[in-house]
Amino acid sequence: MKRLLQISDLHLRADPQGFLRGAITLETLRACLSEAMTAGPYDAILVSGDLTQDEPAAYAHLQQLLGASVIPVLCLPGNHDDPGALQSAFGNSPFQTLGHVVLGNWLLIGLDSTEPGRDSGRLSSSELRRLDETLARFPDRPTVVALHHPPVMLGSRWIDALGLLEAEQFWAVIDRHPNVRCVVFGHAHQTYDSTRGHVRILGAPATSAQFLPGSDDFAMDERPPGWRVINLDPSGQLRTAVNWLSLP
Ligand SMILES: [Fe+2]
Repeated sequence: MKRLLQISDLHLRADPQGFLRGAITLETLRACLSEAMTAGPYDAILVSGDLTQDEPAAYAHLQQLLGASVIPVLCLPGNHDDPGALQSAFGNSPFQTLGHVVLGNWLLIGLDSTEPGRDSGRLSSSELRRLDETLARFPDRPTVVALHHPPVMLGSRWIDALGLLEAEQFWAVIDRHPNVRCVVFGHAHQTYDSTRGHVRILGAPATSAQFLPGSDDFAMDERPPGWRVINLDPSGQLRTAVNWLSLP
């Protein structure tokens, strides 16, 4: 069995004491990682976007925290990231941006769903093509596809307006490849868990602060920072759990 740790929406600031919506985001990230690691080991870490709150200098903090990692760390851009700066900061092992990671007989594919200057997401034709080609290249591998923006409606009007636009193009590719077992995303700062046919669709909480599920307008949730663990069985089945930071 392979184990994937998903952290999301770190919203790190360049200032180590910098905060966002009440959270000192570097401290909450540190606490999440430390607690998550006690339940390790993992075979890969997925960082599903918004590593920073618009301050690429903050990438240095994550480099420092995970740079000595012996497992791959797949970093995806979110709407608050600078994809070019992300690529330069996390282009070398153990980090990688986009591309794919082999995990036993499983495959993890990371996509760039960002659109310059917008908080909503969209997959470019080249990203859709790369997804289609990668899935076709590994037809026998059960696969997790990861992107920042939710490709489904969450039932929260303000978040749904900022999700993945033209998601039907994404699902058209997914539907062509029965090896896809799971689609995971961030951006929504809340958990999500549903299925579409044989595909499990999972959203992760933020390591920073959470948004209130089901709210029509912007609202914060009292839940603590959190992360998701996905256990990938060689049979192609998966088991997953969300963990919340136990605050003192
Ligand atoms: Fe986001």
